[in-house]
Amino acid sequence: MPLVSAEKFVKAARENGYAVGGFNTNNLEWTQAILRAAESKKAPVLIQTSMGAAKYMGGYKVARNLIANLVESMNITVPVAIHLDHGHYEDSLECIEAGYTSIMFDGSHLPVEENLAKAREVVELAHSKGISVEAEVGTIGGEEDGIVGKGELAPIEDAIAMVETGIDFLAAGIGNIHGPYPENWEGLDLDHLKKLTEAVPGFPIVLHGGSGIPDEQIQEAIRLGVAKVNVNTEGQIAFANATREFSRAYDADEAGYDKKKLFDPRKFLAPGIKAVQDAVEDRIDVFGSANKA
Ligand code: 13P
Repeated sequence: MPLVSAEKFVKAARENGYAVGGFNTNNLEWTQAILRAAESKKAPVLIQTSMGAAKYMGGYKVARNLIANLVESMNITVPVAIHLDHGHYEDSLECIEAGYTSIMFDGSHLPVEENLAKAREVVELAHSKGISVEAEVGTIGGEEDGIVGKGELAPIEDAIAMVETGIDFLAAGIGNIHGPYPENWEGLDLDHLKKLTEAVPGFPIVLHGGSGIPDEQIQEAIRLGVAKVNVNTEGQIAFANATREFSRAYDADEAGYDKKKLFDPRKFLAPGIKAVQDAVEDRIDVFGSANKA
């Protein structure tokens, strides 16, 4: 299946009470793991790169072409969108040029009028090329690839104004945080989410910081109007833990690994990558998007 804009499948998720996953990738193997998971679960999916991850991979064109070529060579049949996660204005324009099929313009650090004005510009250009657009009001707490948010609840009037710019889905701060949640985290502000979704009825909301939120809270947020959940840290932790365990078992000579082959990255990375696939499949089940392709 060719790459698609995320507009239709995120809207379908909102209308039918489930959420699709926006899964961050870092490299070729990570992308394969997400695609395998989406295909095995028959789930539509967004594969997203942060600005930092795209830079790490060699730039937006490399990242876009890598994902697109894997979709083709792996004979992926589920809808896949290639999405820019938390893009600055210039990076949003660059990704539109590079062939991303979905963009998050993140102007949440700007004065609100500027955030709205730039979102309008990104929408106009992206929509003229059939590319979906996400934008953010309020801020997501925590830090991701140098983007630091202190976590402000999204003001309702800003959310309404942002939806009016013509974006396709809205990221809104509701007490969510990028990265692992601290022990004393108070949980999602579901009352605020309810106020938000009542102010923009039927509009798809994006939940960032999807790693480590208790499943029941995620599912309640989906019931209230979240239609896309972003997951990055969870895959990274799964990968790191499985790789560490592989290394430990190898050193302890537990699993009878062929010591001569430790240097082969195809062997060394395999358990970690399988763990990423398992984590993505598990999230797809929790979000309810299995068999929705
Ligand atoms: P986590 O790293 O907390 O899963 O957040 C991912 C995210 O929101 C990407 O935008």
